[in-house]
Amino acid sequence: MSSDGNTDFWTRKRVIVTGGTGFLGSHIVDSLKRLRATVLVPRSSEYNLVKMDDALRCFQGFKPDVVIHSAAYYGGLGFNQLYPGKIFYENLVMGANVMEATRLAGAERFVGIGTACSYPGYLEGELKEQDLWDGPPHESVINYGLTKKMMAIQGWAYKKQYGFKSIHLILTNLYGPRDTFHIERAHVVSALIKKFVDAKLRNEPEVEVWGTGKPVREFLYVEDCAEAILLAAEHYEDTMPLNLGCGQGTSIRELVELVQELTGYQGNIVWNTSKPDGQLKKILDVTRMKQALRWTPPTELPVGLKQTIGWYSANKNEADLRR
Ligand SMILES: NC(=O)c1ccc[n+]([C@@H]2O[C@H](COP(=O)([O-])OP(=O)(O)OC[C@H]3O[C@@H](n4cnc5c(N)ncnc54)[C@H](OP(=O)(O)O)[C@@H]3O)[C@@H](O)[C@H]2O)c1
Repeated sequence: MSSDGNTDFWTRKRVIVTGGTGFLGSHIVDSLKRLRATVLVPRSSEYNLVKMDDALRCFQGFKPDVVIHSAAYYGGLGFNQLYPGKIFYENLVMGANVMEATRLAGAERFVGIGTACSYPGYLEGELKEQDLWDGPPHESVINYGLTKKMMAIQGWAYKKQYGFKSIHLILTNLYGPRDTFHIERAHVVSALIKKFVDAKLRNEPEVEVWGTGKPVREFLYVEDCAEAILLAAEHYEDTMPLNLGCGQGTSIRELVELVQELTGYQGNIVWNTSKPDGQLKKILDVTRMKQALRWTPPTELPVGLKQTIGWYSANKNEADLRR
């Protein structure tokens, strides 16, 4: 058993991490290297995984034991409104190609990285895995959420016909070092951190935030998420998708006040209540995660936020440009 609770399952395993230079993927790669796995990260410039020939060339050359599919083409709500067709096509085809290439390369298992955007749009509160198929995702993310869910069906069908082993993990909102801070693609935590850090640097008297602050969301620290993914890859075998989250709701107001305090910004917060709030509460039910992995995320929100603010402040120029 290593210090972070893993067995020697990963030692000398050959692992392909698609999207392994991205925000989440880079933390998965760091964890795998610590566990002494041999890792290949296919860059899109060399292996465009939307093209089956590229996927086959990569996978048959490397002969992985395990494939973790973290690559995706996506962004926040604005990005989704700008590129809905490309988001649909690239994620659908990439998921299908990567799982098929994994099977043809004779790998022992496939780990699909999914999203809470796959849950039915009308659902609020704590989302349970058995509710995943109870309706279409919210129309603002249906083109993205559905493509991710298709991986779970592909895995189910491949198990039935080929005895192929795959799991599908449904991730909540992530935050942490190396997140995307670019204005076009940032999610709520990185967008807020950027706003407050910038306002402090420029001595701005106020920061405007949208909505009332009442909606409750959940935020999982990226290093914890990488740890959970490796535990699930090792211990979870069911074709039923598995939620990965912290199971703890935080209101947007609490989040904003925490970010203000941790960035040391002294100005005022202006709530623009003419902007929509979205659903009141959306968090993942993590009962099955806790049972299956015997694990709960160790990083408390203020600790994770502090790390993220520190990382952003130290890497601001580069982080502002990375899309
Ligand atoms: N971040 C979150 O809050 C969150 C929440 C829920 C689920 N997720 C899921 O977690 C996964 C990782 O998200 P992330 O935020 O880490 O993404 P990210 O930082 O945007 O990274 C995406 C990666 O995908 C790769 N990629 C995109 N198109 C590709 C293609 N055609 N061929 C090969 N590689 C391609 C990119 O590689 P190159 O640099 O080589 O182009 C990039 O490294 C995604 O599946 C996402 O749906 C994320």
